[in-house]
Amino acid sequence: SAAHSVITIDGPAASGKSSIARLVAQRLGRTYVNTGNMYRAVTWAVLQAGVDPQDADAVRAFATGMVLESPVVDGKTQVCISGRTPTDADLNSDPVNRAVSFVARVDEVRNRLVADQRALAATGPLVMEGRDIGSVVFPDSPNKIYIDASEEVRASRRGAQGHADQIAERDRIDKQRKNSPLVIPAGATVIDNSHITLDQAVEQVIAALHLA
Ligand code: CDP
Ligand code: CDP
Ligand code: CDP
Repeated sequence: SAAHSVITIDGPAASGKSSIARLVAQRLGRTYVNTGNMYRAVTWAVLQAGVDPQDADAVRAFATGMVLESPVVDGKTQVCISGRTPTDADLNSDPVNRAVSFVARVDEVRNRLVADQRALAATGPLVMEGRDIGSVVFPDSPNKIYIDASEEVRASRRGAQGHADQIAERDRIDKQRKNSPLVIPAGATVIDNSHITLDQAVEQVIAALHLA
């Protein structure tokens, strides 16, 4: 089994997960893994290939042939799909925002990415952030965090980032899907950061950790 236990951070769209996870990883000298970017990269490639993201059979066939790599660059994982590296703008584009929750429902996509996520744990200590990291990918982790914020706050924070993003619709699909829905993992520490700063949220995460 992996030598290091993974700090898992889950939560709904625009709750602050990636900002908090990146800062926690920096503080602790761990590698930061954004698993949403893996699902976004697959979705970007699906759209590039002209595959209908809502056609589960077509997405399944596409996922079977894809090659995904997650090299660590500057303390965080990049995503490289079949030899190409989508930019942050590609990953956060409106078409990807609209399609990603459909692609993420497909079992074959999840199986591939979860296997890659578990394999990353063997490379060193991680902070990994997503939707199912504490519930499915590393259910035995002693350090599980669930980051929440009100829907109004999340919509306004995402709007301030300049992205059109139907976060309520994405959350609905992510919470209702059969395979690995977004849930508060058993044993997770829940941190609502609607009315606190990013730095305060990071302090609360650090205070909740049980590190050897
Ligand atoms: O074979 P090895 O345990 O090294 O690798 P793995 O099975 O891919 O698991 C890597 C990490 O994922 C280990 O820390 C496992 O404890 C964890 N894991 C887990 O928490 N729950 C699972 N269902 C499978 C793996
Ligand atoms: O940053 P934001 O919260 O808006 O989304 P993200 O973390 O980049 O995730 C994008 C989408 O990928 C989510 O809405 C889920 O559909 C999917 N996802 C998932 O299913 N499982 C994960 N571990 C991470 C993301
Ligand atoms: O990764 P996720 O989609 O959950 O959220 P994010 O992209 O980390 O955060 C969305 C935006 O909210 C970013 O611009 C953060 O800087 C901001 N934020 C904030 O202003 N205060 C917080 N307590 C948490 C996040």
